[in-house]
Amino acid sequence: MSRSADPLAELFAAAKAAQANAYAPYSRFKVGAALRTPGGAVYSGGNVENAAYPEGVCAETSAISAMARAGERRIAEICVVGDGEALCTPCGGCRQRIREFADAATTVHVAGPEGVRATFRLSALLPESFGPGHLPG
Ligand code: THU
Repeated sequence: MSRSADPLAELFAAAKAAQANAYAPYSRFKVGAALRTPGGAVYSGGNVENAAYPEGVCAETSAISAMARAGERRIAEICVVGDGEALCTPCGGCRQRIREFADAATTVHVAGPEGVRATFRLSALLPESFGPGHLPG
């Protein structure tokens, strides 16, 4: 697999492409997410809402599902893009879903339509988190 000259630009572009196909007729807030695995593969997804509102899924969750479908199990970095002035940081549930396949140092990029606005370590977004290592066996 060829490596991109600008891996973060590639990740942002993938997140934006996923945002374009998001299904958000209720909130009208389309979100895209793209993640890279340690091997360099990129998986993406958009939010998919539902008329039964709580059944909608976030963009990050869609991207993680695509990754898992491909048999991959590690997130090296993830980029989330949303419109508006405020930082489109992952919701609490998605922080935990990212945590399942990441570690404290994993980078989470938060972008607007123009590009990446901020980068966090997962440990800053989900401190003292519970993860697979907490379970016995
Ligand atoms: N949403 C995401 O997909 N990811 C985020 O990081 C924040 C929020 C979605 C959920 C819902 O479909 C819409 O944005 C408004 O909350």
